Amino acid sequence: MKRIRTAILGTGFMGRVHLEALRRVEGVEVVAIVGRELASAQSLGAGFGVERSEADYRNVLSDASIDAVHICTPNALHYPMAKDALLAGKHVLCEKPLSTSVETAAEIVRLAAERNLRNCVCQNLRFYPMVQQMRRMREDGDLGRILIVQGNYLQDWLLDETAWNWRIDSKAAGQSRTMGDVGTHWFDMAEHVTGLRVSSLCADLQIFYPTRTRPTTKVETFTAKAVTASGEKVVVDTEDFGSVLFHMDGGARGAMMASQMAAGRKNQLKMEIYGTKASVSWDQERPDELWVGHPDSANHLYIKDPTLLKEQAKSYADLPCGHSEGYDDVFKQIFRRFYASIRDQGSPVEYPQMSDGLRQLVLMDAELKSHRSRRWVDVENP
Ligand SMILES: NC(=O)c1ccc[n+]([C@@H]2O[C@H](COP(=O)([O-])OP(=O)(O)OC[C@H]3O[C@@H](n4cnc5c(N)ncnc54)[C@H](O)[C@@H]3O)[C@@H](O)[C@H]2O)c1
Repeated sequence: MKRIRTAILGTGFMGRVHLEALRRVEGVEVVAIVGRELASAQSLGAGFGVERSEADYRNVLSDASIDAVHICTPNALHYPMAKDALLAGKHVLCEKPLSTSVETAAEIVRLAAERNLRNCVCQNLRFYPMVQQMRRMREDGDLGRILIVQGNYLQDWLLDETAWNWRIDSKAAGQSRTMGDVGTHWFDMAEHVTGLRVSSLCADLQIFYPTRTRPTTKVETFTAKAVTASGEKVVVDTEDFGSVLFHMDGGARGAMMASQMAAGRKNQLKMEIYGTKASVSWDQERPDELWVGHPDSANHLYIKDPTLLKEQAKSYADLPCGHSEGYDDVFKQIFRRFYASIRDQGSPVEYPQMSDGLRQLVLMDAELKSHRSRRWVDVENP
């Protein structure tokens, strides 16, 4: 098997998660890591025997022996990095959200298509076995017609006024924070599982702290709660909370809520889908469980067991029953499919592409428009 040579841009939370997951994907070798500072790339790469460290991603893009790149940097860097990588002929796997505007996202979608390069946006949460089980149940008609889609994505790591991360700064993260950061995961999953598109929405966003204290020292993602307050007061222009009412094609109705200030909730992505025959409920904090509700027989709580999964969902579970499959494993699943499609150019694409990332930008844009105008907004369907 020809080994595919890849590089990771970014050495933070996602840089490490991608690096570790890639070690579990057949036929792929991480040959370079790029950090904002050379030292961070060197220290991450050293333990994994990565041959090259760089502080400028362009040095990696000019290396013809590198086939692909993973973009794991703050959101505002996704567009320039993805664009340069595609122009350099690299296959690109980009973290979500794909970009910070609909226009720039559309440009890189177009570029990837023109250059015929494999492209993926890391909507990894689709890849939990029980999420695929919900999707296949819907496809097989087990749920009937979808009537209601509801749920939430709740975290608490930005609860304190002193909590800080680049995500709070719209120059690094884009105009939407909570909806961009975690709302995109929720809506991607809702559309993927139901096979329906959001057609219109009404959003209410809230900034609970109009100012926050930005610490003078560097803060790693998700360590913000541990920081004590000494620093500069800055005005916050991205939302801590969002709630969205929405309509989907075919008459389905939905409601969701996202917050980074919900005490005690860590990464609770909850998805509930109510159909005319049955309903399903799944919670990312208990990923191996799936509740199935029936109107006139007993409800079930399924525990992940590959032998009990729908045929089409089985390949998303590698471990036998009783052995949990969680967040780390979903990266392996998405990367495996991305690299299989690079190896075999004729193979079907079984992962979210940049066009799916563009879709999330369109939804975010509609949420901002709706919130600012205090009105329902129709959602384009690119
Ligand atoms: N799919 C998921 O489940 C998931 C989870 C968390 C974050 N993310 C996404 O991953 C991306 C990164 O988030 P994170 O939590 O890892 O942030 P982070 O702050 O932990 O890491 C960001 C990294 O980018 C590096 N960086 C900044 N400028 C750079 C440059 N010019 N060149 C090279 N590196 C540079 C920083 O040094 C840092 O190492 C974001 O877009 C975020 O939305 C996705």
